Amino acid sequence: MDASPLPKAVYMLHNLAHVELNAIDLAWDTVVRFSRYGLPAAFYADFARVADDESRHLAWCIQRLRELGFDYGSMPAHNLLWEGCEMSAADLGARLAIVPMSQEARGLDAGDRLSKRLVGMGDNRTAAIVRQIATEERAHVAVGVTWFHAICAGAGVDPGPKFRRLLLELCPGLLKGPFNDAERQLVGLPAAWYDARLWEPELRDVAAAAVAAASKAEYAGAPAVAAGSAAGSAVAAALAPVAEPEKLRRIAARLATMLDLEVQTATSA
Ligand SMILES: [Fe+2]
Ligand SMILES: [Fe+2]
Repeated sequence: MDASPLPKAVYMLHNLAHVELNAIDLAWDTVVRFSRYGLPAAFYADFARVADDESRHLAWCIQRLRELGFDYGSMPAHNLLWEGCEMSAADLGARLAIVPMSQEARGLDAGDRLSKRLVGMGDNRTAAIVRQIATEERAHVAVGVTWFHAICAGAGVDPGPKFRRLLLELCPGLLKGPFNDAERQLVGLPAAWYDARLWEPELRDVAAAAVAAASKAEYAGAPAVAAGSAAGSAVAAALAPVAEPEKLRRIAARLATMLDLEVQTATSA
């Protein structure tokens, strides 16, 4: 962030505007892409409402950027959130676990820190926008949690292990804190799902290694576990491949880089 020629508040606001723009596209993508699944109408209505919220959030960000003398497009942006969309395109469970339940949950983790930082910089108006957006993001994560439970129940699958497996295989970088546990629990995300420090020892070690490798942008996919190995069946089940490994490795590494940047942005002085 220090390398950016933009004022810090503008830099943060621009990052947020970019997230909101992608969030609009992601919500509509979920509606359209999974329309062939014939899910209940409430599913599509929920994600249409999310898209509506995101477009309002984007409008707030752009209005404030303009008040500060800038606009959306004043600095380069990344394509990483959309890549998170692509990697979950073939699997509704993966879409819910990665986008609303993890990417959007990052907004719950960072919202309070970001708004306090903006207050500290004297920008109360931008801080209020960030606070309001973070509050509304709770409903988006809750939509993901609700439908994840529904599809797992429909498939007769235990949602906790399924969530852990998807995150570990597709996006181990999203298993990295800091987490706002109170905010996440408010929307029905149990810490035992996303906080690998609470997992059984074998799986916890695998997750720690994957997170560390992802942080170094060297993630090479979850390690293979031989059938009947000492790692146990829970670990083997958690590591079963769920999508094209090569593409996932590339995206996981890039997502990890983005998440590190987010944490740095929210915590640097
Ligand atoms: Fe939003
Ligand atoms: Fe959202």
